[in-house]
Amino acid sequence: MNWRALFKPSAKFSILSLLVIGIVVGVVGYFATQQTLHATSSDAFCMSCHSNHSLRDEVMASAHGNGRAGVTVQCQDCHLPHNPVKYLVKKIIVSKDLYGFLTIDGFNTQAWLDENRKEQADHALKYFRSNDSDNCQHCHTRIYTNQPESMKTIAKKMHEMNFKKEEDKRKTCVDCHKGVAHVYPKG
Ligand code: HEC
Ligand code: HEC
Ligand code: HEC
Ligand code: HEC
Repeated sequence: MNWRALFKPSAKFSILSLLVIGIVVGVVGYFATQQTLHATSSDAFCMSCHSNHSLRDEVMASAHGNGRAGVTVQCQDCHLPHNPVKYLVKKIIVSKDLYGFLTIDGFNTQAWLDENRKEQADHALKYFRSNDSDNCQHCHTRIYTNQPESMKTIAKKMHEMNFKKEEDKRKTCVDCHKGVAHVYPKG
């Protein structure tokens, strides 16, 4: 076998036809990936592993599932980034959960969640703190500037006070707002 032949244009196929095949494979691959990512971005995907946990019921009972406007905020709206590259990276980290799913004893039981809630919440909060609660700010765009008339006075005051601080001294949404979608553990 002459290895260099691998890098030479094939005798049977012209460079053009190889290029066309390459583009077709690339396009099909692109759409297949998009479809997969789309399927893995629904609550149903998240709940496939968390099916015995009360997480979705908690969202539905909170303002994020049971508000006046009929909005149901999806798991990924809060837990996955909007930036496509970061999204992919976090997806790969989420897919590490597959290992946990297979190895953690009794993971998919309510008892496990109750027992490990604090630790899991800390993990989740770390993500929100790492990007200044970017997911929250994606929807709540009028917290610091151009606040709506209807916002409670105490809320306006607290938000304004926070915004006046230097950027690195500011608190992030989840520092003040815990348990906006789930039961935040006491203690
Ligand atoms: C997909 C959009 C969306 C995202 C993401 C989102 N929210 Fe909300 N949030 C809403 C809507 C809509 C309401 C109003 C519900 C209603 O009362 O009708 C709301 C209500 C609230 C309230 C007032 C009700 C309450 O529970 O006291 C707080 C506080 C809040 N959100 C904080 C947060 C925080 C913190 C995050 C990030 C962890 C977040 N939100 C992420 C859309 C969103
Ligand atoms: C393959 C199974 C599986 C799927 C699918 C899955 N999870 Fe999980 N999830 C786990 C396991 C296992 C843990 C506990 C990980 C540990 O402690 O090592 C976990 C922990 C978490 C945590 C807390 C810890 C952390 O890293 O923040 C959050 C938040 C979470 N999952 C959200 C989601 C969301 C949102 C989705 C859908 C996009 C999802 N999960 C899909 C298995 C899964
Ligand atoms: C320094 C603490 C602090 C920070 C940081 C903070 N909030 Fe608040 N927020 C409050 C307080 C206090 C209230 C009023 C009491 C309540 O409703 O929980 C409030 C109220 C709200 C409300 C309800 C407003 C109303 O009138 O019903 C929403 C929505 C909200 N905050 C979202 C956010 C979001 C999103 C962020 C991040 C961009 C954020 N907050 C950052 C302290 C804070
Ligand atoms: C409105 C934003 C929001 C939505 C929607 C949301 N989460 Fe969370 N999630 C959070 C925040 C913030 C935390 C950190 C702990 C806290 O404050 O309750 C968290 C924590 C968690 C944890 C760690 C355990 C715990 O209860 O703290 C898991 C697991 C989790 N979420 C999974 C999910 C799944 C699955 C869905 C969809 C059914 C979902 N979340 C929907 C904001 C959200």
